[in-house]
Amino acid sequence: MRIYSKILGTGSQLPERIMTNADLEKIVDTDDQWIRDRTGIEQRHVAGDGETTSTLGLAAAKKALEASGLTADDIDLIVVGTTTPDLVFPSTACLIQKGLGCRGIAAMDVNAACSGSIYALGVADKFIQSGQHKRALVIGAETLTRMVDWNDRTTCVLFGDGASAIVLEGSEEPGVLSTHLHADGGYDHLLNATVGVSTGLKNEPNGGLKIRMKGNEVFKTAVTTLGRIVKETLKANNMKKTDIDWLIPHQANLRIISATAKKLSMDMDQVIVTVNKHGNTSAASVGLALDEAIRSGKVARGDVLLLEAFGGGFTWGSALIKY
Ligand code: COA
Repeated sequence: MRIYSKILGTGSQLPERIMTNADLEKIVDTDDQWIRDRTGIEQRHVAGDGETTSTLGLAAAKKALEASGLTADDIDLIVVGTTTPDLVFPSTACLIQKGLGCRGIAAMDVNAACSGSIYALGVADKFIQSGQHKRALVIGAETLTRMVDWNDRTTCVLFGDGASAIVLEGSEEPGVLSTHLHADGGYDHLLNATVGVSTGLKNEPNGGLKIRMKGNEVFKTAVTTLGRIVKETLKANNMKKTDIDWLIPHQANLRIISATAKKLSMDMDQVIVTVNKHGNTSAASVGLALDEAIRSGKVARGDVLLLEAFGGGFTWGSALIKY
């Protein structure tokens, strides 16, 4: 008998501080209308003093446990998608585990940039399917604004901070039907962070760490790649476009989201959109959208959800879920 990963509950946490497009107008040569028209973003949350990837992830995890009616002692695996760990090590998963007080269980970070949510879900799902782990916390947590170049208007308007968490439990009833993970490192030049530990930090503010992106080339590849993964996911499950109740996409750009919805012949009211309020929160974004969809009552038990994401690497992935 196949073991499925069933979603028991979700949670999310956003930093208190909100930065609007009008706030950005004071920092770089941009304007609210340009940002809205090109991206759909109206505001984003920015981590303040004392807010880190692990504190946001921990708060989201606690809410997901509460929604599941569980305590941390019921969990036996933590997988965190993040590109912005508090520290190189211990991993963010270990820091969150310490905060939850469930010491001894497996805990790891997965770095797949903006596809981190789907990668973390895919990894946790495989552990649960194996039967070795019973209940997992899948967390996506990021503080990308900490490595944004606030002088670069082509990137700084796009990103925001936040965290989301999903509790999965092994079940005989369908839950996660399939996950599909891909990467192509040949596109590293189109979207990257400028420095790392091994290449050496620079004697510059923030160690020279910045996000660099050729936005329009990323845009084009994202649209075609997401179109392909949607087809791959439906084919693997022998399903038609009309079998999907909700599209829960990575929230990078409203135009990318609309293009994917169009490929699925879906109406925008079947698509969960949070990019307007959150900006691109990288590995946190799909989970934030899922949590909002569940808590607002849009997504109901039994609905079929298609989650997808695309990001630096390039990495991309999808998950088909019977909620
Ligand atoms: N405010 C005002 N003007 C801006 C601007 C800003 N914040 N950022 C760029 N511009 C200008 C550019 O300088 C350019 O001016 P020019 O024509 O005089 O050279 C013009 O707007 C068009 O730039 P372009 O990069 O071609 O715009 P675009 O339509 O591709 O939109 C993005 C830019 C970044 C919004 C878009 O490419 C995008 O969303 N890409 C994908 C991003 C993404 O999803 N990344 C993460 C993947 S997970």
